[in-house]
Amino acid sequence: MKKRWLIGNWKMHGDLESNKALVETIRGALPKPEDDIAVAVCPAFPYLFQLAELTQGTEIGVGAQNVSDHLQGAYTGETSPLMVRELGGRFAIIGHSERRQYQGENDGLMGRKALAAIDAGLIPVICVGETAEERDSGRTHEVLARQLDAAFGYIRTAHDEIILAYEPRWAIGTGIAATPEIIQGEHEFLRQRIAIRDREFAARLPIVYGGSVKASNAASIFAMPDVDGGLIGSAALNAQEFIAIYRELAASQPKP
Ligand code: 13P
Repeated sequence: MKKRWLIGNWKMHGDLESNKALVETIRGALPKPEDDIAVAVCPAFPYLFQLAELTQGTEIGVGAQNVSDHLQGAYTGETSPLMVRELGGRFAIIGHSERRQYQGENDGLMGRKALAAIDAGLIPVICVGETAEERDSGRTHEVLARQLDAAFGYIRTAHDEIILAYEPRWAIGTGIAATPEIIQGEHEFLRQRIAIRDREFAARLPIVYGGSVKASNAASIFAMPDVDGGLIGSAALNAQEFIAIYRELAASQPKP
């Protein structure tokens, strides 16, 4: 059975006390995770070590929200994926639209970061997604293909463990998720595009959806055949909401 993923992106939220309360509530309330479901949280960098300690020996993994495209060197203010790995991180979100929007990150940098993350032993969660304007002008597939090709131009496929996240920018933080039909259509498009490079890899690649996922819409999104889980923003900061989303994922049809 294919693994399904529930990943919380905590963005620039949290502090020592609230992080502890949040993760302890999640940890205590999650039913024993099914073998085919993995849960992870991605706190801001300064709290990686705290979360790695708090989740030690549990089923909850920890990831970073970004990493450098270099493993070491004179890059002031950057964080090496090797450092994330040493602190107990297993994942790194790469190319999130907020980094594209506010930090000017581009497709090439996303590809190099994904490769550096893999080289450091992390699983990159590679984010792609179109803006409202790109969708309205009928360029969604062109944009997704460009972002995907840039990332996969750097990374190998067959041997790498990667998670792909479809996050339409217009659905992030708006409270209004893309419809299940749109999500399924774009996930299918992404999988087919990757299949051109490597059919077997495309079939087993987890593709998760992000953008205003909450307990009330999770079931209809997770029911889609090409949706292998969720990348959750604001709802991941609310323990009860995150647990409810987990339950919806666990109740959804396993992916063959
Ligand atoms: P929201 O769930 O707050 O829309 O954020 C989604 C996201 O950006 C996850 O990476």
